[in-house]
Amino acid sequence: MNISVIGTGYVGLVTGVALSEIGHTVTCIDMDPVKVETLNKGIPTIYEPGLEELMKQNMASRRLSFTAEHSKGLSHAEVVYIAVGTPQRADGSANLDYVEAAAKDIARNITQNVIVVIKSTVPVGTNFHILNVIRAHTHDGIQVHIASNPEFLREGSAIKDTFHGDRIIIGAEDTETANVLEEINAPFKMPIIKTDISSAEMIKYASNAFLATKISFINEIANICESLGANVEEVAKGMGFDHRIGPDFLKAGIGYGGSCFPKDTNALVQLAGNNHHDFNLLKSVIEVNNNQQTLLIDKIMSRFGKLEGKRVAVLGLAFKPHTDDLRESPALVMIPKLAELGAEIIAYDPIAIINAKKQIKEKIAYTEDLSTALQNADFTVIITDWPEVKNIDLLTFTKLMNDPVVFDGRNCFGLDAVKQANLEYYSIGRPDQTSELIS
Ligand code: UDX
Repeated sequence: MNISVIGTGYVGLVTGVALSEIGHTVTCIDMDPVKVETLNKGIPTIYEPGLEELMKQNMASRRLSFTAEHSKGLSHAEVVYIAVGTPQRADGSANLDYVEAAAKDIARNITQNVIVVIKSTVPVGTNFHILNVIRAHTHDGIQVHIASNPEFLREGSAIKDTFHGDRIIIGAEDTETANVLEEINAPFKMPIIKTDISSAEMIKYASNAFLATKISFINEIANICESLGANVEEVAKGMGFDHRIGPDFLKAGIGYGGSCFPKDTNALVQLAGNNHHDFNLLKSVIEVNNNQQTLLIDKIMSRFGKLEGKRVAVLGLAFKPHTDDLRESPALVMIPKLAELGAEIIAYDPIAIINAKKQIKEKIAYTEDLSTALQNADFTVIITDWPEVKNIDLLTFTKLMNDPVVFDGRNCFGLDAVKQANLEYYSIGRPDQTSELIS
C-alpha cells in the first residue's frame, strides 16, 4: 500500500520505518528541509536503538523515502498518517495547530480518495474535527475517511515496542476503513482491537493516565515507607505478584518525565474539566509527581545545610535511559534548584548533553565521562538509571569523590553493596545509609 506519514519525530519516523519494514511503500514528509536532507542520507534525526539499520535497509529497498514537499509526498498516497506533535498549551490542554496544518496540507495535495490516520495523541473529538477541516479544504469528488490509531511506543525501545507491542487500537466509524487499517497492520502480528473513534482516542489518554497513576502511587508508598522503615522495593515485589496489579511500572524514583505522561495527564484533566468532571485523582497524580521531582533537594539540604562551594556530580540528564530526550526530565527541575542553592555542578550523560545545553540555562560543566564527573565531587545525585551508572564499581565513588555521599533518585544499587562500599547513601523509599551508620 502507498502510505505517507506527516511528521518525522519519534512517533512519525518510527511508524514510517516500521510500515516500510512490513512491506508498504512509505513516504515520510517533514516541513523541515534540513531534517529531510539528513534523513535522506540514512541518518536518523533522533536517537533510537535499531532505527538506523532498519531505515537504511528499507531506503535501499526503495520502500522508504523522505521529502519536504507535501505535493510530492501526498499525490500517490492511499493512506496518510498524521504523526505531528501536540505540545502542551499554558493551560495544560493539547495544542492542535500542527495537526490542523497537516490536515490542510493533506486536503490541498491529495489527488485520490484517502484514509487519514491520526497517530498523534489528540483529545477526544479531534478526529471528527480534523475530518471536517480536510473535507472543507479538499477538491470536490475526493473521498476522505478518518481513523484513530494511537501509538503506545516508548522512547528508547520504540522499535521493539512497535514490533512486539501488546495491542494495536483502530478507531473507525465504518467497517471498510477499519478493515483497511487491519490489513495494513496485520504483518505486525499483534492483537488488533477495532472500536469507535472516540473510544480509541480515550484509550490512549486513559492508558497513559493509568500508568502515571501507578508510578505516583508507588512513589507515595515509597515516601511512607521511608517514615516507617519499610523498603519500597520489597513492597512493590510483593504487590506485583498479584496478577491483578502486575510487577511493571512499580519502580519508585524521582518521578516520571518524558514527552507523554506529563503532557497527557494534564490534557486529560483539562479535557475532563471542559466536560464538567473534576478529575481529582489525576490532579493528585500530577501533584505527587511534581513534589517527587524535588524530594532529593530536601534530603540534600538536611544533610549539608548549605551548598555554596559544594561540587555536585549530577549523573544523568535524559528523562530515562536509552534516549537523548530531556523533555520534562527531573534534571530540568533539579539542576536549577541546585544552582540556585550555590552548588557547583558537573553533569554526566552519555548521549543527552547536546540537547541538555539547549534547555539548561544555568552555567554548569558537562561530561560524557563518569570518572570526570565524580572526581573531587562533594556529593552525587543520580537522576537517570543509565546502565553505565547502574553497573559502576561502587568503590569508584569512594576513590574519586571528596566524600562518597550519594543521593540516588533511581534506586540503582542494592543496600548491601552500598554498605560494603562504605557509601553514605540516600535513595527513594528505602532506609538511608547515613554517616552515623558508617562511622
Ligand atoms: C510512555 C508510555 O509508556 C508509552 O506507552 C506512550 O506511548 C508514551 O509514554 P515513554 O514516555 O517513552 O513512554 O517512557 P516510559 O518508559 O513509559 O517512562 C516514562 C517515565 O516514567 C520515565 O520518566 C520513567 O523513568 C518513569 N517510570 C517508569 C518510573 O518512574 N517508574 C516506573 O516504574 C516506570
